Parts: sequence; structure tokens; C-alpha cells
Amino acid sequence: MLKEGKTPLLSVRNLCVDFSSRGHVSPVVRDISFDLNAGEILAIVGESGSGKSVTSQALTGLLPEAPACTVRGSVKLAGKEILGLRERDLRKIRGKEIAYIFQDPLSSLNPTYSVGWQIEEMLKIHAPTMNGRERRARIGEVLEAVGIRAELANAFPHEFSGGMQQRVMIAMALAASPKILIADEPTTALDVTIQKQIMNLLLELREHFGMSVLLITHNFGIVSQIADRVCVFYHGEKVEEGPTRTVIDSPQNAYTRTLLACVPRLRN
Ligand SMILES: Nc1ncnc2c1ncn2[C@@H]1O[C@H](COP(=O)(O)OP(=O)(O)OP(=O)(O)O)[C@@H](O)[C@H]1O
Ligand SMILES: [Mg+2]
Repeated sequence: MLKEGKTPLLSVRNLCVDFSSRGHVSPVVRDISFDLNAGEILAIVGESGSGKSVTSQALTGLLPEAPACTVRGSVKLAGKEILGLRERDLRKIRGKEIAYIFQDPLSSLNPTYSVGWQIEEMLKIHAPTMNGRERRARIGEVLEAVGIRAELANAFPHEFSGGMQQRVMIAMALAASPKILIADEPTTALDVTIQKQIMNLLLELREHFGMSVLLITHNFGIVSQIADRVCVFYHGEKVEEGPTRTVIDSPQNAYTRTLLACVPRLRN
């Protein structure tokens, strides 16, 4: 039996996802297993269509229902099975235990409400015991944590630059103090300098809040800056996994070597 403290925060075993359309079944995630430990940053890297987003969405039941999509395997959060839970129970996990940030902040932010209002909605759902004053204090706290002045809670999404909008998304994700942050290509739409700032921010938040991060990206340059460990996906399978430095310095898989060849300066 595993000793207490040794149970991974998130443990994914033999995850398979099939999409079905008009009698044709496409397996897009094939027998994937990985662990995410408390306080760890784990990157999933792979080319477009390799199943990174589908894997992350399968974890909390964000995919279409059967028969369009079937998910098999096991996903344990702190030792408790969450795959196959009812939507009502999954909704309590999303945002509160496992929060997501996506590639394009504008598609996730509502243009008609201030950012403070949107963070407050998250808190009303996931921290229902907080009163208005406590919620306002928490909104200020999470905005400051991502480098935005608390007064800007009254501003609207279009008043922020792309990088600042992504910070707002991260503040929203942080609001309910999740244990795990899943960041799916959070900087693809941003320029390189802002990308770096957002990555540094994720590192700071890990230090500050002890959060675990599952970072999804196709960019090994980003992986090398921030991830403790990396899983490489190819055509829906995990083809390599290891500590970031080990994978970069001595990749075992031919596809990993191809990916790394695109960023030659990583290896010295
Ligand atoms: N709702 C869906 N119905 C059918 N097929 C889907 C659906 N969502 C994703 N797929 C397919 O699953 C495969 C994996 O997609 P996924 O979005 O996980 O790729 P990805 O690795 O995140 O790629 P990218 O880097 O482009 O975001 C793709 O072939 C995609 O077309
Ligand atoms: Mg994706």
C-alpha cells in the first residue's frame, strides 16, 4: 500500500478516448498513463492533433457524451476515482479542485461584464460561504497575484492587452484556490516577451500557492523553461516521459528527437 503523502495528486491510468461518427470509431487517446504530484509542473508536449487537449478535457468530463465519445480508464484525484462521476459532482471539481486556462482568453471572458464581476461569479459557485466583503478581498488578492492592480477589477476585458487578458484568466482560475491548474497552450496567441512573463508568473504561483500545473504545449522551448517533468504525445500515445532535463539531454524516442531538433539551442 502507498504511504500517506506518496499518493499522487492526480493519477491517470490507461486513459482511452474514442470519438464515433456515423459508425466510424476514431481512437484519439490510446492507453495514456501519467501522474501529477503536488507542487509539480508537468508538461504534455506533442504536435497538433496528438491528443493533448482531449486528454486534459477527459480528466473532468469536458468531452461530448456517449455515443459520440467514450472515455475509459481511471483518473484519480488524491486517490479518489473521478472518471465517470455525474456532471453534478464533476462541476464541483472543475474550478474548485482542477481549474483550466485556455489558449484564447477573449473566447473565455465575457465582454459585457467587468473582470471583477467575472471572478466574483467563480467565487459564488465555488466558495458559497464567502460574503460580499470576503469576495471583494479575494478578487483584489488574485488580481494582485497575477500582477494587476486591484482597482482594475472594475475594468472590462477589452480594456486589457492580450497578455493582461491572459493574466485575468489566470486570476479567475486561481480564485477558488484549485489544487491543479491545467493550462492548455496558454501563451500561443502571445508574443515571445509576454509568453516569458506568463511562464514566470506560473512559476511564481506554484511557489506562492503550492499549486500543481499541467501545462499543455507544442513548444519545447517553453517546456525547458518551466516544467519539472515532461510527457511526449504522438498520435494519441505517450511515447516518452521523464524529468525535463533528462528528456532534453538524452531523448529516447525518435519523435522526441524530431521535436527537439526544431529548438536546437536547448541542447548544449
Ligand atoms: N469533439 C471532437 N469530435 C471528434 N474528433 C475530435 C473532437 N475533438 C478532438 N477531436 C480529434 O481528436 C484528435 C486530438 O485532438 P486534440 O484537440 O486533443 O489535439 P491537440 O494535441 O490538443 O492539438 P493542438 O496542438 O492543435 O491543440 C484530433 O484528431 C481531433 O481532430
Ligand atoms: Mg489542443
